[in-house]
Amino acid sequence: MKHRATTLGVQEYAQHKAYTEWADYHSQQTPMAVYYDSREQHLIEAGKMAKTIGWIAEFGVDAGYTLKILACEHKGIPVYGFDAWHKKGPGLPDRWTGNIDFSKAFTWSKKEYMQLKKSMPRNVKLIPGLFDAKKIRAQLVGPAQLVHIDCDTGKSTRQVLDAIQPALVEGTVIVFDEYANYPGWREHEFKAWQEFSKQWEIKYEYLGISNMDVSIKIITRRYK
Ligand SMILES: C[S@@+](CC[C@H](N)C(=O)[O-])C[C@H]1O[C@@H](n2cnc3c(N)ncnc32)[C@H](O)[C@@H]1O
Repeated sequence: MKHRATTLGVQEYAQHKAYTEWADYHSQQTPMAVYYDSREQHLIEAGKMAKTIGWIAEFGVDAGYTLKILACEHKGIPVYGFDAWHKKGPGLPDRWTGNIDFSKAFTWSKKEYMQLKKSMPRNVKLIPGLFDAKKIRAQLVGPAQLVHIDCDTGKSTRQVLDAIQPALVEGTVIVFDEYANYPGWREHEFKAWQEFSKQWEIKYEYLGISNMDVSIKIITRRYK
C-alpha cells in the first residue's frame, strides 16, 4: 500500500506526458513558430501578423481580461466578445479535461453582466448567450482579421469555427488559448481545429506558441 499512486501523482504524470507529447508534435509540425513568454504578449504579437482587414472577435470572454487587451491594441475599431455569461449555469457548457477545475467557474448573474458591460472599453461590443451560428453571423459581417478562441472545449470550439467558416480567408489569424500542453489536449481546441481545417482543406502556418496557446495564419482554403 505504501506505493499506491495518489491523485496528485497521476495528475503530475499526465501533465508531464502532455508536455512530452506536445514537444514531440511541436518539433515536427510547428518548428518555425515563435515562443512568447506570456499569453498576453502572444495575443498582441499574433494580432499584428494578420494580413486581412476585417472584424476582430473573441469567443470565451468571462470577465474580459483578454478582450480588454484586444480592445486596447485595436483602438478605433469594434472588438466583439461572445460568451454565455448569465445565460447559462456554473461551469463550462461541456466537459473540459484539462488541468484546472472549472466546474464552478464562469458563473454570472444578470446584474454582474450589466456591470461588466459598463466597465468595457468603448470599442467593445458584448454578445451574451450560448454560441449560436445565426447570432454570430448577424454580428460579424465580412472577413475575419483576428479571432481569439478561448472557450476551452472541443464542442464549443467547433461551434465557433462552423459559425465563422465563411469569414475565414487567406491572412486571417486565429489564436487558440487552450490548444495544447495539458492532459487531454488532443480532445479539445486542437481536435476541433484539426478536423475543421481538414474538412475545408485549409493550409495554415503556426505563428506563435506560449504555454497552452498557439496562433495560426491561414494561407489557402477551399470555399465551397
Ligand atoms: C477560459 S474562459 C475565457 C477567459 C477569457 N478569455 C480571459 O482570458 O480572461 C472560457 C469562457 O468560455 C465560455 N464558453 C465556453 N463555451 C461556450 C459556449 N458554447 N457558448 C458561450 N460561451 C461559452 C464560458 O462561459 C467561459 O466564460
